[in-house]
Amino acid sequence: MYNKEDKILIIGAGGQIGTELTEELSKLYGSSNVIAADLKPIPSLHNNPFEKLDILDKEAVFNVVKKHGVRQVYLLAALLSATGEQNPMFAWKLNMEGLFNILDLAKEKHIDKVYWPSSIAVFGPTTPKVNTSQFTVMEPSTVYGISKQAGERWCEWYFHKFGVDVRSLRYPGLIGWKSAPGGGTTDYAVHIFHEALKNKRYECFLEKDTVLPMMHMEDAIRATIEIMHADPASVRLRGSYNLAGMSFNPEEIAAEIRKHIPEFTITYKPDFRQQIANSWPQSINDAEAREHWGWKPAYDLPGLVKNMLTNLA
Ligand code: NAD
Ligand code: SER
Repeated sequence: MYNKEDKILIIGAGGQIGTELTEELSKLYGSSNVIAADLKPIPSLHNNPFEKLDILDKEAVFNVVKKHGVRQVYLLAALLSATGEQNPMFAWKLNMEGLFNILDLAKEKHIDKVYWPSSIAVFGPTTPKVNTSQFTVMEPSTVYGISKQAGERWCEWYFHKFGVDVRSLRYPGLIGWKSAPGGGTTDYAVHIFHEALKNKRYECFLEKDTVLPMMHMEDAIRATIEIMHADPASVRLRGSYNLAGMSFNPEEIAAEIRKHIPEFTITYKPDFRQQIANSWPQSINDAEAREHWGWKPAYDLPGLVKNMLTNLA
């Protein structure tokens, strides 16, 4: 359910998700209708209009929305878990004020629809770790997680109070071959492929038995577009939806890589990201996303590893 003529603005379009989302939305809406915005230039764009934009500059965001007649905004600009811990007050500012700037534009009817991603980081050390359900204990221990949890509550509040059509997914760690990750705790699961192909070895910043929820980027992009195109009545949760793909630890992904590159070796040198990973769930129950708007992932671990190695090679 979507209007192919809608103008879409992607803020943070040069990042890990934005790079792929811009490409996929361009296939559906046409490149000229998908405006890519970021603080930095984006070399990978194909005929998309580009705007150099700071999400914290509310007036500049408003001017870009008006200039292009934007109807939908995908807000991807944020500091992630690892960089967030290193710059906590700025992470809070960027992640929260950026969201308010967009929710306010929707509240004032300058745009019709908002996409804003949340994360498995909304959960914390007191959350049940296995098959973590949509509604459970949520005491995040990172600034990133706190900002995502607060963001979810604000999204729901703007929906109920002002009818803002905002939709959101709690992504697990995302793994794709087209773009580099930008400062998360799950980034090892992307780096490992590049190092396996280049050097046949990888030093992992998490312990070998650290199980985390993960997902192929193709699945994540499809989920994003599916929830944005879903009938509004089927999007019954306006905070954010649990979303599951697969779960594995570094040892398991290394073993799967060795099926393709037998000489590949992995060593472990955990750093501050280990503590963040320890606070997150190991696997996610996404029953509500499946039931409400028909979510179903396509990739498992063997499929992901084969796809990553084939494309990166
Ligand atoms: P990323 O760091 O790769 O990309 C973010 C982009 O935003 C970058 O291109 C950056 O230049 C841009 N940006 C930063 N500050 C900006 C500002 N002030 N104004 C405009 N642009 C700015 O991040 P990502 O991995 O693509 O994540 C996008 C969103 O998805 C974030 O909200 C993140 O929390 C969420 N998310 C990502 C993952 C993942 O595994 N990648 C998992 C869960 C949630
Ligand atoms: N991949 C993200 C991170 O590690 C999860 O939100 O920060």
